[in-house]
Amino acid sequence: MRKLTYYIACSIDGFIGDPEGDATSMFAFVNEEFLEFVKTEYPEMLPTQGRRMMGIDDLENRRFDTVVQGRGSYQLGLDAGLPSPYNHLREIVASRTLEESPHPNVELVSGDLVARIRELKAEDSPYGIYLCGGSTIAGQLLDEIDELVIKTYPQVYGSGMPMFGTGFSVTDFTLESVRTLENGILVRTYSRKR
Ligand SMILES: NC(=O)c1ccc[n+]([C@@H]2O[C@H](COP(=O)([O-])OP(=O)(O)OC[C@H]3O[C@@H](n4cnc5c(N)ncnc54)[C@H](OP(=O)(O)O)[C@@H]3O)[C@@H](O)[C@H]2O)c1
Repeated sequence: MRKLTYYIACSIDGFIGDPEGDATSMFAFVNEEFLEFVKTEYPEMLPTQGRRMMGIDDLENRRFDTVVQGRGSYQLGLDAGLPSPYNHLREIVASRTLEESPHPNVELVSGDLVARIRELKAEDSPYGIYLCGGSTIAGQLLDEIDELVIKTYPQVYGSGMPMFGTGFSVTDFTLESVRTLENGILVRTYSRKR
């Protein structure tokens, strides 16, 4: 089985954005060191347009070949005229309201989302699956998540959109690595305890 990895940016108090999901305050921390980190470790997590701007369009994928987004998160790209924001990956978008896919690279899932994720995980591939978010589908897919890569920014939000839009329950993870960037971003990687 290949892994489903939730790679997400959050505040110190664990919010992935303001109550509407806006996390633009975190953009202030994007500097040379951060971009180098993403470029060397997670180049496929950058949207295609960002990769183009950085001149790393043709970098091979390192860890993932598929990205999963909820329509809420996907809508941000759509509104910006980017119907295939991760064109270098296979794109899966969960939606019950989009009637047809806005782009040939995007597969819509309107039925059983957990079942579709299990099918994807069962595929034979050396690459994993990147769960991009947002909160709602991360909450629904918590049981399927095998790895967390959490980028914590040195800001307190007080309230906002939670990392997992779900009810209270305890799920154990094992800390695998911690990387500290000079500007105070902390990148923690956890694997799921099964
Ligand atoms: N900080 C970060 O790193 C980060 C990363 C990603 C996203 N975000 C933020 O997260 C926010 C979006 O999160 P969100 O929780 O509002 O939305 P979301 O999880 O991205 O998407 C929710 C949508 O997914 C669809 N959906 C949910 N469950 C489904 C199911 N079982 N089957 C089929 N479709 C399903 C529905 O779309 P329909 O309404 O079309 O049915 C639902 O409205 C954005 O504001 C974004 O900025 C932050």
